Formats: sequence, structure tokens, C-alpha cells
Amino acid sequence: MTIVGIRGFRDILPGDVERWQFIENTTRKILEDFGFKEIKIPVLEKTELFARSIGEDTDIVEKEMYSFLDRKGESLTLRPEATASVLRAYIEHNLYKEEPIKKLYSIGPMFRYERPQKGRYRQFYQINAEVLGVEDPKIDVELMVMLLHLLKRLGVRRTDLSVNSLGCSRCRPQFRESLRSFFETRLDILCPDCKRRLKTNPLRIMDCKMETCTKVASDAPSILDFLCSECLTHFDAVKEMLRTFEIPYVVNPHMVRGLDYYTRTAFEISSSELGAQNAIAGGGRYDNLLKELGGPDIPGIGFAIGIERLALLLEEREGLFRFPKVFVAALGSEAQNDAFRLTTALRLKGIWVEIDYGDKSLKSQMRRANKLKADFALIMGEQELKSGSAILRDMKTGHQEEIDLGKGMDELIEKIG
Ligand code: HAM
Repeated sequence: MTIVGIRGFRDILPGDVERWQFIENTTRKILEDFGFKEIKIPVLEKTELFARSIGEDTDIVEKEMYSFLDRKGESLTLRPEATASVLRAYIEHNLYKEEPIKKLYSIGPMFRYERPQKGRYRQFYQINAEVLGVEDPKIDVELMVMLLHLLKRLGVRRTDLSVNSLGCSRCRPQFRESLRSFFETRLDILCPDCKRRLKTNPLRIMDCKMETCTKVASDAPSILDFLCSECLTHFDAVKEMLRTFEIPYVVNPHMVRGLDYYTRTAFEISSSELGAQNAIAGGGRYDNLLKELGGPDIPGIGFAIGIERLALLLEEREGLFRFPKVFVAALGSEAQNDAFRLTTALRLKGIWVEIDYGDKSLKSQMRRANKLKADFALIMGEQELKSGSAILRDMKTGHQEEIDLGKGMDELIEKIG
């Protein structure tokens, strides 16, 4: 019996991978233009890191983590997100001592045991960006501007930005109490998980995926009525700057994001073209998280984009594929040896050249040149071998001309551009 891959874990095959390369290359360029540096972090961390940062009562920690004991009995977890790991690395390597502001990005796979469907997988890839050390609301807006610019450059047209403020450790407790009172009177409608969350963390009821809970939550009190004056000023400044940059947004007071670490600004970008899993990106501030993880009292903000969902939006996009410059077709063993030498020499000069291996007919080799969409075919037969030449055929126009290979490759390189 053949072995197949794990449910929710996908292979990204050639033909699809070009979209991913385009996404990654465009992302690197834009993020680096905005001052971000790449950080590579491990896929495996101590389970405690995620439990403490994402929060014990979140769906991610409660139900979705791939956790296991290693050979020494330590609980480890395949990262369900990158923020916790980036902050762990930031603290562990004292990065805050190097510069007051750090902008870090990473691209890689995350793992969540969710029910797979279109746009939702158990291994999925994120582009993750974090800024540490800036309290000013300008950075909140800078991140949203950068994110929207990136999406536009990738060719994602229709996006919706939602923003909210989740308050701070001073004003959130009052909101939490108000939520608790609200849900207490509707206890019988809540799912068993939310009944429990009512005691431990009522905010989590707001992002429960059960239909009945979602319905009750839509009438819940708004956090915006509880913000302290500092949080209000911060949120007003964010909205004001978004208007200055002419960025359309909606305020969604019920958006709490599925992770516990957020404070103040939270945002999400969705696309109506995506279907049920319509969130492309999400992020926000986490001003207490570094301190809570044992680091310095430094604010932070970041976001993550789901690459699978981006790739779905780019499905129709053309112009992402490269094609070989030349296909070298040779007839007869001597010509095939010459062709192999020439192919290798051209490749070492940085030219994409394809060749067949084995003794194939000219017709079959030309069929392959066509299939690979090569710009040119270079035909080397017995006849050409004697005169040290080859025939260069422009595959688009069908125009053919003889090239003298006796004096080296210069003429050929000039002709193929
Ligand atoms: P998140 O909202 O959990 O945030 O995930 C961000 C994005 O990852 C989502 O908007 C979605 O596009 C993608 N995503 C999440 N789960 C899946 C899945 N199962 N399959 C496919 N795509 C998925 C975070 O992860 C935070 N760490 C973002 C952040 C960074 N906040 C501050 N800094």
C-alpha cells in the first residue's frame, strides 16, 4: 500500500510554487524597504511559551496545538504562530540592547489542529512581522499601510480592513466584568467551553466559532465604551492617520482576535473573494507581552498574513512563470556529447538551458522544447557537427539561422539576448 501525506498537510507542487515564490520575493522587498530584518526561528518550542503568551483559554492552546513529550519527557509544541517565538528570541539574545527599535519578519510554516477546508490547513505558512519598542500610534498605521501596500503589489484587489481597540490592563478589567454579567444572564445558550470561559476569560467567548455563541456575542457590550483616556487617544490617533492616508476601514468593536496577548489596536484584513476562511491577515499591539514573558517592559505590535489564502487570491495571476531560454536538441552520440558540453557551459554563464538525456528523435526533442516553452531551440545534427555550427530556431516566429560555434559561444549568447 502506498503512503499518503497527513490530513491538512499539503505539498506545494511546481506550477503552484511559483505563486509562493512571487509572494515571498515581493514580501521581502517591501518589508525590507520599511526597515524590517529577517529572523529565522525554530518550528519547535517549549509548550509553556505558547500557553503563557497565546493564553490557556484560547482555542489555539486548548484544542489546536501539536504538542508531545520528547524523549526526556519535556512537553514541546510545533509553533501555532510566530509572535511568541520571535519575542522569546528577542529576550534570549538581548536584542533590545542593540537598538531601541527592532523590526523583525519571518516567513515559515505554522501548525494548528483545525478542521481542514479550503483556505484552512493544519500546516499553513505565515508571513509574520513584529515591531518592538514603539509606543507611538504612527507605527500601528505604518504597519497597516505596509500590509495594504504589499497586498496591492501582489495583485490582491478587494480587501476590507477592520480595526478595534482592546484597551489596556487598566481599562480591560471593567470590560471583562461587564461581559461576564452579560453572558451570565445567557448562560444556557453558551456552549460547554464558553460556560467554562465565562469564569476564566469571558473575552474568549467573543471569538467562539459555535453558531449559538456567535449569535449571543453579537449583542455583547462594546469594549469601546470602556476604554480609558490614554487608550481612547491612541485609538483616535490611529483612525485619524488612517483617514489621512485615505485608507478605508471599519471599526468592529466585537473583534477581539483569537489570542490573549493583544492590547489596544487590533486589526484584520479580509477578502470577500475567499469564502468561509476570509481572513488574509490579522495583528495588533501586545504592549505587556514582553514583560509577561520575563523580558523588559517594551511595547510591541505585529501582524501575520496567511500565505495559502494569498495564493488562492492570486490563482488567476499570469506572468509568474519563467521559461528556459534555450532547448538544445542533438542528433547522434557525438553531437549529443557536444550539446551536453555546450549546455553545461551556458548554464555556468547563468543562462537557463534545457536538454534531453538519451537518444531521442529530433521530433520528440522539439516537442519537449515546445512543451517547456523555451524561447529558442538550438539544433545540433551530424551535418552541423562537421562544420562546427548549429541551427538556432526562434520558437515563437519559427525563424531559423545558422550559428558558427567554432569561435566560441559569443555569437550564440548575443543572438539569444
Ligand atoms: P492569526 O489571526 O491567528 O494571527 O493568523 C494570521 C493569519 O494566518 C490569518 O489571518 C490567516 O490568514 C492565517 N491562518 C491562520 N490559521 C490558518 C490555517 N489553519 N490555515 C491557513 N491559514 C491560516 C496570528 O497568528 C498572530 N501571531 C499575528 C500577529 C503577529 N499578531 C501580532 N503579531
